Amino acid sequence: MVKLNGSNKIKTAVFISGTGSNLKNLIQFSFLNKSPIKISLIVSSNKRAKGLSFADKYKINRKIYDFNNKKKSESLTLKQLKMNNISLICLAGFMKILSPNFIKKFKGIILNIHPSLLPKYKGLNTHTRVLQNKEKYSGCTVHYVNSKLDSGKIILQAKVKISKKDTSSSLKKKILKQEHLLYRKAIKKVFFSL
Ligand code: GRF
Repeated sequence: MVKLNGSNKIKTAVFISGTGSNLKNLIQFSFLNKSPIKISLIVSSNKRAKGLSFADKYKINRKIYDFNNKKKSESLTLKQLKMNNISLICLAGFMKILSPNFIKKFKGIILNIHPSLLPKYKGLNTHTRVLQNKEKYSGCTVHYVNSKLDSGKIILQAKVKISKKDTSSSLKKKILKQEHLLYRKAIKKVFFSL
């Protein structure tokens, strides 16, 4: 296997909107020698996102854009991606939908993590809907991003058994734990074809 050091790792941007537990996980993953990525940029659609604290803690360049003005914020984001030589974007709890134009213009890879077993339960409030439908299993999916919501090619999934006692918050917790493992595995799969 190729030996990776800081300078030949894949320059990665993580896009967030909230808590940032996936961001924290990806940052910690990026510090490992066996990790193919280096996180060079964090983009947040929310100036109050808790996850921004990890940018400060780990001294990673961060930008906050108001994605309600999509055209302007996407164009500023594209400029930043170029300036930082980013070739991988990991969406991690990013609550905005990127336009087809953005996806076309960015020449690298865009990945997303979604807390359901896609193609089931695309969109928001997955855990509540899963419980309402009395599903026996749920899980999470890492997939490539295309212009349709939560619909790009699936890279990996992890399944979680739902217990009778599960609430949407206990299920969220269980699945987040799997998300953190899955995002690392999926990135290794993409770059090392594991
Ligand atoms: C995760 O469940 C992720 O799959 C979904 O939003 C949540 C973000 O959590 N897209 P966090 O901000 O990474 O803690």
